[in-house]
This record gives sequence, C-alpha cells and structure tokens, in this order.
Amino acid sequence: MNMKRFFPLVIAATAAFSTVPSFLHTTFLQSARAAENTVSDQLSGEQLYKRNCEVCHSMRPPAKAAPPIVRLASRYRMLHGNKEDAVNAMVSFMKTPDASKSVLMPHVIERFGLMPAMSLPDEELENVAGWLWDQYDPTYEKQRGYYR
Ligand code: HEC
Repeated sequence: MNMKRFFPLVIAATAAFSTVPSFLHTTFLQSARAAENTVSDQLSGEQLYKRNCEVCHSMRPPAKAAPPIVRLASRYRMLHGNKEDAVNAMVSFMKTPDASKSVLMPHVIERFGLMPAMSLPDEELENVAGWLWDQYDPTYEKQRGYYR
C-alpha cells in the first residue's frame, strides 16, 4: 500500500476515535448533572408534603394534628370548580391562614386550631397544592370519622 495515501486515513481514524468517546463522555456528564439539578431544584409535590406537611396532615384518617389530605382534597373539589382556582386558594391560605378563607367547617378549626403560615417559595406552594388537589379519592367523600 502507498503510505502517503494511507497516512491521512490513520490520522482521521485516530482523531475520530479519540473525539467520539470524549464527546459522549461530556454529553453524558452534562445530562447527568442536568438530572441532578432537576431533582434538587424542584421537589415533587409528594416530597414537599413529606418534608413540610406530613408532620400534621396524615394522608387518610385517622387524623394527626390536622384534617387528613383526602379530606382537604374533597373540600376543595366541593367548593372550587377547577384545579387552578383551588390551587390559588390553597396558596393564599398557606401564606396567610385565616378562618375567613377556610374551606372547612368552623368546628374543624375550633378543634385543631388555625394552621401556621408556610414560608415556602411560591413555586413550591403551588406544586404541593396541585399535588393535594390530585389526591382526591371519592372513597372518602361521604365517610364519617375523618378526624378520629
Ligand atoms: C403545624 C401543623 C401543620 C402543618 C405543618 C401543615 N398544616 Fe395544613 N393545616 C393544619 C391545621 C391545624 C389545619 C386545619 C385548620 C385550618 O384550616 O387552619 C390545616 C389546614 C390545611 C388546609 C385547609 C385550609 C382551609 O382551612 O381551607 C390546607 C389546604 C392545608 N392545611 C395544607 C397544608 C400543606 C400543603 C402543608 C405543607 C406545605 C401543611 N398544610 C402543613 C396544620 C398544619
């Protein structure tokens, strides 16, 4: 074989093989980092609930120190026609809880006391409120003994 023609081929092949893996490596690292950021920057509604709400709100009866989440979801479904309105109402309530804004019956607030204000970023409040709306479970709609 003519070495003068073969040589550029070797260069090209070497270049190709050395750049492809490093290119893949960089892309892989970048996407791994992007995934990591998504996880740490944006917690899911359920993660937010576990961190900030679960201490008082159980998912289902029996209640801890507040009405269970399924009960709240039912009340918001009953009193707000759509998710967007319900989320706005929840966010407003969580920032500045006030009995006049409550979707609950007065005796519930008498029993548990008013919820303390949540100092979370708006985005997280909206996220956890949307998650709460989605927890609606018709099984609990008419069930008695929510607060036991
Ligand atoms: C320290 C206990 C406590 C924590 C923590 C807590 N809550 Fe509450 N929450 C309550 C109590 C008590 C009530 C019932 C009285 C009331 O409505 O203020 C309540 C009521 C609510 C209501 C109904 C509001 C209404 O009256 O219309 C929503 C919605 C709610 N909580 C969501 C949350 C979410 C979401 C979190 C977490 C980000 C959370 N809560 C954290 C105690 C708590």
